Amino acid sequence: MRTDKRPSRRLLLQAGGAAATGAMLQMNGALGEEAGPGAPTDAPTGRRPTSLDPDYFKGMYATDPDPWRFATSAYERDKYAATLAALPRPRYVSGLEVGCSIGVFTHQLCPRCDALIGLDVVSSVLEAARARCADCPNVSFRLAAVPADWPDGRFDLIMISEVAYYLDRADLARLVARVEGALLPDADIVLVHWLGVTHYPLSGDDAAEGFIAGARGFARVLKQSRTAEYRLDVLRATKSDARSAQ
Ligand SMILES: C[S@@+](CC[C@H](N)C(=O)[O-])C[C@H]1O[C@@H](n2cnc3c(N)ncnc32)[C@H](O)[C@@H]1O
Repeated sequence: MRTDKRPSRRLLLQAGGAAATGAMLQMNGALGEEAGPGAPTDAPTGRRPTSLDPDYFKGMYATDPDPWRFATSAYERDKYAATLAALPRPRYVSGLEVGCSIGVFTHQLCPRCDALIGLDVVSSVLEAARARCADCPNVSFRLAAVPADWPDGRFDLIMISEVAYYLDRADLARLVARVEGALLPDADIVLVHWLGVTHYPLSGDDAAEGFIAGARGFARVLKQSRTAEYRLDVLRATKSDARSAQ
């Protein structure tokens, strides 16, 4: 079974580096991580039934400081460029990035925001993100497991990139409610999700479609795009009574 999802990691496996392969097998064996093509997705043992908890991600980062190759892979580079290009506005007053990891995308997003908060469930990656974004005084980071944890404040940009599919449907609904309660008028919400086969509670399509359906009462789809590997959905808040910044 192929054990990893992103192109860069696939190449690494194909290259057959023994240490890298061993580390990934250990990681995936220990954590029951992503499935390869042909693995069951909705079979009883195929998908994790509940949201992945912080220990899952701590385990991934314990064996590799950049397990998804955010800093080096062409997939991530191109995805980040497409995400930035899809932002409807040149600049935002107050941005929130859920699941910021080691801050590679955060660093690219920070020039587009007056203020930007990055959230992640793993404290070590927040340290790496702080170091990477040391030249971005407008960025701050918080340890938070959404949707249970959520920062105060209102945002005109909420970025949910490659994180909603780690939630089960109940937590996805709670995330939608968190987002609704945190929007500035006319805010943009950006969803980016990988479309490959995984053991996550939700597929990329289910996470995005579930979010969009849950948000129907307060946000509309502004634009959508799709590659063979990921989908990108940009929503715009529609509620005229969206709360003002506090
Ligand atoms: C695949 S990485 C995505 C990183 C970045 N957003 C991107 O698109 O390149 C997912 C990150 O989300 C974090 N994460 C997972 N579940 C989370 C949750 N419930 N709340 C906050 N962060 C979470 C993980 O620790 C990990 O760093």
